[in-house]
Amino acid sequence: MRILSLALWVLLSFSVAAEAPQKAAIASAHPMATAAGHKILSQGGNAFDAAIAVSSTLAVVEQQSSGIGGGAFWLLHRAKDGKNIMIDGREEAPAAAYADMYLDENGDVNRDLALYGPLAAAIPGEIAGFEHLAKYYGKLPLSVSLQPAIEAAEKGFPAYPRIIKTIERKAKVLKRYPASAAIYFPDGEVPKEGELIIQKDLAKTLKAVAKHGKAGFYEGKVAKKMVKAVQKHGGIWTLDDLKNYTVKEREPITTNYRGHQLVTAAPPSSGGIAIATILNILSAWDLTALKNDGNSPKRIHLITEAMRRAYRDRSIYLGDTDFVEVPIQLLTHPYYAAGLRAGINPTKAMPSELLPGINDNPKGEDTTHFSIIDTEGNLVSATLTVNTGLASGFIADGTGVLLNNEMDDFSAKPGEPNAFGLIGDDANKIEPGKRPLSSMSPTFVFSEDKVAVLGTPGGSRIITMVLLGLLDYFDGNDVHSWVNKPRYHHQYLPDKLYIEKGAFDAATIEALKAKGHEVVEHRGHWGNMHAVSWNKKTGEVDAASDPRTTTGSATVK
Ligand code: GLY
Repeated sequence: MRILSLALWVLLSFSVAAEAPQKAAIASAHPMATAAGHKILSQGGNAFDAAIAVSSTLAVVEQQSSGIGGGAFWLLHRAKDGKNIMIDGREEAPAAAYADMYLDENGDVNRDLALYGPLAAAIPGEIAGFEHLAKYYGKLPLSVSLQPAIEAAEKGFPAYPRIIKTIERKAKVLKRYPASAAIYFPDGEVPKEGELIIQKDLAKTLKAVAKHGKAGFYEGKVAKKMVKAVQKHGGIWTLDDLKNYTVKEREPITTNYRGHQLVTAAPPSSGGIAIATILNILSAWDLTALKNDGNSPKRIHLITEAMRRAYRDRSIYLGDTDFVEVPIQLLTHPYYAAGLRAGINPTKAMPSELLPGINDNPKGEDTTHFSIIDTEGNLVSATLTVNTGLASGFIADGTGVLLNNEMDDFSAKPGEPNAFGLIGDDANKIEPGKRPLSSMSPTFVFSEDKVAVLGTPGGSRIITMVLLGLLDYFDGNDVHSWVNKPRYHHQYLPDKLYIEKGAFDAATIEALKAKGHEVVEHRGHWGNMHAVSWNKKTGEVDAASDPRTTTGSATVK
């Protein structure tokens, strides 16, 4: 039924005359990555080739957030046939992984092992994603689309405050491993602002991929070096783990919200399902009117209660659908949401412990997102990650590859919070070959005369940030407003309503407290949203980068 109504909607929407985008728009977390994407478009590539160029350049210049030692979800819309698909290049647990692998003799999670060094690393997926994108969706060979990244690794990029701060924060871990120390402490010191960070080994690895495709990374010399280094430092990867890695094409989650058609991330992301649940709960209320009548604490309260319920479901039901049965139809069904909505008291917060079911966490500058529209109307919304800032801290000797610490996105022990304070149960327990549950939520919205492409990094808060961006779009605001909007977040447990510094005035905070919410004002801000939009009536495109970080780069060409 859902598929039928989607098909009908697409048919109807495409009967409205659409002007092709007049220009291409790219928004990413770094100007070198945005420029790389535009360069590839000017060389005859499409949005999917540009996505390879942007992803690989971010892997070099914003490696605290994503990289070829990590994974990604690329959500694609192909203009010529309207196909929407999610390329799942998420990392995968190695074959020797097992449920209790991070528990010590007392049954407690060893957080050091779960987060740092090669035991924390799952088998990376990003390079396999590049090959898949180039082979099935792009127009150019990898030797062309990887060129900007190869140059950036070879010639270096100037250090900037965000990466410098992450190196400082992670210094102890990085110094444990000689190959990491050589990159991040070239003269024994943290690089100064403007100093070039050069990565010759990474350039060589990227060249091997440019020449041999996926096999240049998952097989041969690079693979052997990675496995040798991983095993030497206590990890469990094997050559077979690398060779067996493949990306998967996933049907995106789709949902309707008050006439808008959403296309968003499927499992192993929890994002699309959670966003669908929240929007289905909220769809009965005219939130735009609530906001405009000056009663914003009521709006915030209703949204928070919807967030609480969707994150409760996340912790119970969600995991890799290749391993566990996730009740996707139920969780995204309007009737299910109606039941959840009926349990919401419009004037009082429901303590999370009273919801049937089974703690201050990071800001989430880690992970990265970019959005692209090309002049054919192809779209890419991609969120990429190595997990926490500079990931496991471990660069495999001789490869330049910084390994992810995505294993921490599994539930190492039921009910035990991970680095983002998220809890999980059996659905997300560690199993060989399984992909850890993610919050990454690359999203498209197709409306009658507009298209929106958005996403953000931010760990567990990704879902609520994308949601708030969407609600701002539904309120009729433009792309610059979505990325600017003050943010708040509730994730069921801990039972707190987190708000960005200065997000609400004192009266709003008092009103929310009176409804029973424990409001926690963060010291700063979170997220790094990069979004693009297309007005189908005029053909105009627009792009915006989150003002919260200094390197965001949004350009229309
Ligand atoms: N590593 C963050 C996420 O995938 O949600």
